[in-house]
Amino acid sequence: MTRKPVIAGNWKMYKLIDESVDTALNLKPLVANATHCDVIIAPVFTALKSVADRIEGSNILVAGQDCSTQNTFGAHTGEITASMLLDAGCSHVIIGHSERRQFYGETNESVNHKAKAAIGAGLTAIVCVGEHLAERESGDAENVVSEQLSGGLEGLTANDMERIIIAYEPVWAIGTGKTATPEQAQEMHSCIRRFVSKDHGSEVAAKVRILYGGSVKPENISELMLQADIDGALVGGASLDAESFAKIVNYR
Ligand code: 13P
Repeated sequence: MTRKPVIAGNWKMYKLIDESVDTALNLKPLVANATHCDVIIAPVFTALKSVADRIEGSNILVAGQDCSTQNTFGAHTGEITASMLLDAGCSHVIIGHSERRQFYGETNESVNHKAKAAIGAGLTAIVCVGEHLAERESGDAENVVSEQLSGGLEGLTANDMERIIIAYEPVWAIGTGKTATPEQAQEMHSCIRRFVSKDHGSEVAAKVRILYGGSVKPENISELMLQADIDGALVGGASLDAESFAKIVNYR
């Protein structure tokens, strides 16, 4: 099964609108020949439309960093629906990032509602999972990730799963400079494929793309991408600079 790699940049809560547009425009020529993978950037909400408009027609896709569990207009102050992201030019949305789980009360249940809302609106959801250091050290990592997946992807059909990308981001590797070794990442990625197979069948599992995230840099991407079950990367810090992100995109 050949799976098209995905290299996604999560800009988190960085960059004003002008800076976001500048980075996207700088990135555009640097990744123009990257047909080997899907290239995605996730700017802050306020910059989505400006960025999407300016890179329209390029091979760079745009993602939101979160969406509401609700998918209809309504009295939900501060929320943004998946269809609003689509309206702003997004094709993807990141859901269940560990920073949202840790600091903003995201649960496997809300991830599940958001994934369904995203798919319903026609977006592809990048669903993040990953264990904390203490969970890894106590031998609980696989259980935690398994529960995040079964809860987060509950009730999704094989068709729905075509619009799911999974991102494995061990919390201890995010922003710490401490990347999981390619072997550690591969080990969990292969477990993830097994968990998906158990819940959604082997065909879905063979197709689903699983990204690694956590201190991915131009220096370590090639080695990670050599692993059988690593289908791409979700990059934080190193995606903020167009040249460094382009090096990751052009890893081969
Ligand atoms: P870093 O690449 O900065 O470790 O962040 C990873 C991440 O959280 C991407 O979503």
